[in-house]
Amino acid sequence: MKKNNLSSKQPIGIFDSGVGGLTVLRAIEKIMPNEDIVYFGDTARVPYGNKTASTIKKFSIENVLFLLEQNVKMVVVACNTSSALVLNHLKGIFNIPILGVVEAGAREALKVTAGKIGVIGTESTIRSKSYQKAISLENKKIKVIAKSCPLFVPLVEEGFLDGEITRLIVRMYLQNLKKNRIDTIILGCTHYPLLKKVIADFLSGVKLIDSAEAAAKESKNALKRSGLENKARRAGNKKFFVSDEAKKFLKLAKLFLKRPISKPRMIDV
Ligand code: DGL
Repeated sequence: MKKNNLSSKQPIGIFDSGVGGLTVLRAIEKIMPNEDIVYFGDTARVPYGNKTASTIKKFSIENVLFLLEQNVKMVVVACNTSSALVLNHLKGIFNIPILGVVEAGAREALKVTAGKIGVIGTESTIRSKSYQKAISLENKKIKVIAKSCPLFVPLVEEGFLDGEITRLIVRMYLQNLKKNRIDTIILGCTHYPLLKKVIADFLSGVKLIDSAEAAAKESKNALKRSGLENKARRAGNKKFFVSDEAKKFLKLAKLFLKRPISKPRMIDV
């Protein structure tokens, strides 16, 4: 059933605390190249990863309201922290399909694990235990070991995607997971896919789950199910909005997307 008389021609809305959600945009445009997308990065209030649920709830509601003003047909909550803490709340108050990255990532991990999953994310995501809950809801026998990695976000934003410092920090955060012989790891934060190579080198043989890719797949399925896939034969239009000045966002966008983007518009939320 189409909610609210939504139409396939409307854009998909994506929000994140900042630039990191571009990993989700990239995954979505890869498998749905003809969808129009409106992306909002809340760069004035980033980071969300160390904030409490009530603050993240307030920010996330405002972000969804902004995307609704942009006439989106679906909202993808790219930010793991928002998804972990307030997705159910958002689903309960808005009459539009809303998808997050946590359940998608958990489901993908469950498909490949042999029984021991590692989860990494921001402090708030890990404290919320959302990944653990999503996993045990499906299979109580799976062992989950979680670890917050607060230095990964600034490392990525400073462009330290490889090299000695990054390798040391990866070892510091992940050695306990390695010792516990996890067989699968969920990259439960928008920024972590950019550290895939270093993480994979350290945890050699462990399967990496990119929650951005998992969420993109689930978004595609959700649009298909509700008849909202855009079938236009042309590349989708992308619009970017930020809540602080665009300069840093533009610079980091190149790192995340490996291509330049159109200049984001600055808005008040
Ligand atoms: N986007 C956040 C997340 O995925 C990371 C950055 C932040 O802390 O706001 O959890």
